[in-house]
Amino acid sequence: MTRDISQHTLDPDDWDETRALGHRMLDDMFDYLMSLRERPAWVSPPPQSRAALDAPTPMEGAQLEDVYQSFKEHILPYPTGNQHPGFFGWVMGNGTPTGMLADMLASGMNPHLAGYDQSAPMVEKQVISWFADLLGFPPESSGLLVSGGTMANLNALAVARCERAGFDIRREGLSGAPQLTVYGGAETHNWIVKACELTGLGSKAFRKVPCGDDYAIDVKACRDMIRSDIEAGCKPFCLIATVGTVNTGASDDVAALRALADEFGLWLHVDGAFGALAALAPEARRQVEAQSLADSIAFDLHKWGYQPYEIGCVIIRDDAAHKGAFAQNATYISSMERGLAVDSTYFADRGLQLSRGFRALKAWMLMKETGADKLGALIQQNVDLAHYLAKRVDDENNLEIMAPAPLNIVCFRYVAPSTDEAALDALNRDILYRIQESGEALPSHTMIKGRFCLRACVANHRTRKEDIDKLIELALRFGREIAGDRA
Ligand SMILES: Cc1ncc(COP(=O)(O)O)c(C=O)c1O
Repeated sequence: MTRDISQHTLDPDDWDETRALGHRMLDDMFDYLMSLRERPAWVSPPPQSRAALDAPTPMEGAQLEDVYQSFKEHILPYPTGNQHPGFFGWVMGNGTPTGMLADMLASGMNPHLAGYDQSAPMVEKQVISWFADLLGFPPESSGLLVSGGTMANLNALAVARCERAGFDIRREGLSGAPQLTVYGGAETHNWIVKACELTGLGSKAFRKVPCGDDYAIDVKACRDMIRSDIEAGCKPFCLIATVGTVNTGASDDVAALRALADEFGLWLHVDGAFGALAALAPEARRQVEAQSLADSIAFDLHKWGYQPYEIGCVIIRDDAAHKGAFAQNATYISSMERGLAVDSTYFADRGLQLSRGFRALKAWMLMKETGADKLGALIQQNVDLAHYLAKRVDDENNLEIMAPAPLNIVCFRYVAPSTDEAALDALNRDILYRIQESGEALPSHTMIKGRFCLRACVANHRTRKEDIDKLIELALRFGREIAGDRA
């Protein structure tokens, strides 16, 4: 029996029908984005949706229309809520209508971004050079768009390790090498632990330096730790400064850390996952300006760039160092003098991924449509709203600020007279659950000095003053209800 070897494709049988459905999808998503404020910030998925999302492998396909209905019924109504104006949890991005359209255009075009002589890498290079410029890095800096802050930081740590290990670590690996050590404040995000484990340095390579009352790294303590590690035979290679720590939004003294890095010949990396883009804000920029002194910086556009997931960026001041950490020379991807394969691995030689998507398009469209000034004004607006929240907390007898709030994160808790610390922790846990389950606002939580508190990060371009007032009202209302129940 002969088989027709050209009978299958994934293009639709009926293009007009798929086009019409596509138009409806677009309309539905616009309706969805336009009505975010009217829906709850978050709803836990009900049992029927959990069951629908736990179905056996479909061996036979279904009509796209039916698949789309399932999406509308079981998936779309149950997100984390990060797009909602009342969402204050963790540091999540919110997305924009243009970002959504850009992702569709990028996916429709679907180029492969290892490099090659085509338009898309030119877009990515342009985006990186715009942000290098905005963050104060020289035009010849290298960079890469990646999936997020963790990957951007990992990329930079891999470069730092190659540059400052003092031997050919790519060839030799770590066996027989002295313990390489990297330093960051106790408030450093835990990407560093994953990165140390993954790069073979081991989690013990990360030296957690104490922070002061401002939650910034204690530079003197860091110097002492470096000295005693050298005496013990270790090889310090990298300092990590954070601008905008995840717990409280504090920023390390990058200028002092630059001097310390130079004193010991270390690489200085800045984790600016969200804080780096404060450089665009008219006033908040002062808190992060010194980040331009770093050898490398990581930041996300899916946080304070307001873009849909996923898009992060790493900038490395020295392109040779960047390439030196990743470039390979397999014949099947080598660059040619002419034809498509000119520069065939431009980006693949600066990171782990070979196949890469066109995430640059949404950043390019954001910058072209919005411009850096408006982006900076939005970031400043978030900072101003966070300061307003801190002031509202300060003004309420039953609320207490738990840490300084220099940027856009406010940690606070409800306090009731003559309640001990353990009971206050439990009370604030319950307040958190009730606020989240009300769907009216969505803060997250953290521990500050061993105390449970509510944590509000203002990073949403949709958030207004009334959303801050609502959060305060909810914390007070539930706090009084729960404290009253317990009295
Ligand atoms: C300071 C900091 N660094 C790194 C990260 C990790 O970034 P991502 O979640 O994009 O991987 C975060 C995430 O919130 C962060 O706040």
